[in-house]
Amino acid sequence: MLDDGYSDLSNHDSFADGVPHKTFDRLRREDPVSWTEGNGTAKGFWNLTRHADILQANKDYKSFSSGQGIRIEDQSHEEYMARRTFQETDPPEHSATRRAVNPLFAKQVVANFEELITQLAADIVDAALKKNEFDVVEEIAKQLPMLMLGRILGVPDEDLPWLVDKGDALIGNSDPDFTTHVVDQMDTEAYRLMPFRNPAGADLYAYAAKILSGHKQVGQDGILARMMQTQDMLDPLAFKNFFCLLVAAGNDTTRYSIAMAFHLLSQNPALVTQLKTGRYWDAVADEVIRLASPTMHFRRTAIQDCELHGKKILKGDKVLLWFISGSRDETVFKDPHTARLDRGANRHLAFGQGGVHVCLGMHLARLEVRIALEQFIKRIDTVEAIEAPNWTRSNFICGVKKLNLRVKVL
Ligand code: HEM
Repeated sequence: MLDDGYSDLSNHDSFADGVPHKTFDRLRREDPVSWTEGNGTAKGFWNLTRHADILQANKDYKSFSSGQGIRIEDQSHEEYMARRTFQETDPPEHSATRRAVNPLFAKQVVANFEELITQLAADIVDAALKKNEFDVVEEIAKQLPMLMLGRILGVPDEDLPWLVDKGDALIGNSDPDFTTHVVDQMDTEAYRLMPFRNPAGADLYAYAAKILSGHKQVGQDGILARMMQTQDMLDPLAFKNFFCLLVAAGNDTTRYSIAMAFHLLSQNPALVTQLKTGRYWDAVADEVIRLASPTMHFRRTAIQDCELHGKKILKGDKVLLWFISGSRDETVFKDPHTARLDRGANRHLAFGQGGVHVCLGMHLARLEVRIALEQFIKRIDTVEAIEAPNWTRSNFICGVKKLNLRVKVL
């Protein structure tokens, strides 16, 4: 669907050929707190598109709560209770679990993975570069986050392709390439108590149940074994939902960031030259993730009536924080749609910065993106796209799902 600056943000098809950035550009300029009508399956919602407004609302969890759902979908209380994770709670409830998981993803802890990630990335890139033409999403971008997810969770490598397929079906529940149960095209009522209203949620619950019962062994250093010993995970449903959250959150987001990096390299040979100087390795991950912003928005719910830029937001209204738009706000970023490795401090919002829910896995994601690129750049001379990228059909997750490249290896 062509983006004429007036794309319907409730319609997944508006994103099927890539993000409608003209629409976000216009909204930031003309209508920073815009209203999108409901489309039959969901009530309407507000869109915050400017950097400053998103940052402010994200900080203010007392006014804009995560505790009634974080996606556009309207959930009954029963559905919310069945599917919620700590991401769908506010402080002080949220703080307890966050305190338990924070140390496992701390920057210094994640830095210990550098050697492992480098080895994995080197092997993945070597295998991909045996051919001069290949789908870089499948061969590289998908592989590294998948293997790292296995290490983080402590699950066996042979289970990973299955787990990743299920995670894709959850997070890509509006894309027929990822699920047979496309959420806006068929009746998903039977799965309303499952994550993302998708049957893959039931499969992942069953896998998590096997871990709980000891029928599936997990590594004792992994996050699952460690979280199982905490108070927060005493309830089996809490553990199952936490497991689904990690499978969904820890995988596609990093894949699509790496895929965006390759898309950018294939569009702009100067980036390859710049990276080869070795001067931009500290900057590249955040600049790529800024432009990728794979989880385009998260939702909040207004706790009381308020007014913003002349619009009256009522108690109970859904308010979307469009991180992907804030991260391209021209008042904060010069040449917002261009990859620039010389930005200095990068104040993008792709990780939900400023809020209590700021991404748990951000240090890991940055490391994976940087190392995947380092390993690629040092082995190649040039890279070009053979065809246009293929984008996810989703107004929630944005990513290149297929990108055929031609490379000249050194
Ligand atoms: C480039 C990659 C990634 C991006 C862009 C990303 C984006 C985000 C965003 C925007 C949030 C905030 C959600 C909100 O405000 O409600 C978030 C939260 C979260 N992310 Fe990430 N993420 C990425 C990678 C990862 C990885 C690798 C993991 C785990 C292995 C992870 C786990 C989580 C978890 C558990 C939360 C919820 C935190 C909380 O509610 O306190 N993410 N992520």
